[in-house]
Amino acid sequence: MMTKDRLIVALDVDNGQEARTLIGRLAGKVGCFKIGSRLFTREGPDLVREIVSSGEQVFLDLKYHDIPSITAAAALAAAQMGVAMLTLHTLGGAEMLEATVRGVGYWRESTERARPWLIGVTILTSMDSAALTRSGVDRPLDEMVLRLAAMAVTSGLDGIVTSPRELERLRMQGPPSLKIITPGVRPEWADRGDQTRVLTPYEAMRRGADYLVIGRPIICAVDPLAAVERILEEMEGAHDQRNQPLPTESR
Ligand code: C5P
Repeated sequence: MMTKDRLIVALDVDNGQEARTLIGRLAGKVGCFKIGSRLFTREGPDLVREIVSSGEQVFLDLKYHDIPSITAAAALAAAQMGVAMLTLHTLGGAEMLEATVRGVGYWRESTERARPWLIGVTILTSMDSAALTRSGVDRPLDEMVLRLAAMAVTSGLDGIVTSPRELERLRMQGPPSLKIITPGVRPEWADRGDQTRVLTPYEAMRRGADYLVIGRPIICAVDPLAAVERILEEMEGAHDQRNQPLPTESR
């Protein structure tokens, strides 16, 4: 697996045209493009299908959180669009996670296509202990993240999204097969924006991230391709040993 396959670019833009321009510059140079609720709500599944049919991989980050049958059906619809990965809120509960794993599993068996990786979101990076307490959760934030990550694993999810803060502990305590996707990555030369706990691409890879999600340092750069190349150089310096291909590589 090449280093570029481990870099996910967050397409946090407002319209399809901006997204297409970025993809036009970066196609083939990065592993995957992440579409979140901002772009998806404006452009819908057509844009996702368009990107997938152009040969690029899509990470659909809609953070599903609903009753089990609805979430399973939504994930199935995403699988049918051909996305490579999608996110679910682990706080939706084990039953929701398991129903979704089963749902896309049946689909995979009936179509013989690779199913998308199901990736669990634990606690949003915008939440701190005070915010958790206000929501009625009295457990420490770190404990919640570990507990939810463990539940993601036992429910059959393929990986989790985790902030740089929890990265090392999860890598040490989680199963080796767990795919860890890390936002909050900032090269030394980039603005932090609203990211508070950040790691450089080098550090994040060294501490065990499998995939890095990077948005603004790339999409707001004057030359996004040059930004990608600099980031890839840093990632390569980390000599990561793990080798986990994205699902479509095994198709
Ligand atoms: O900050 P950047 O533009 O690199 O954000 C990339 C992704 O990281 C976003 O799409 C979002 O999912 C996530 N993010 C986060 N915490 C923040 C800001 C963004 O987890 N404070």
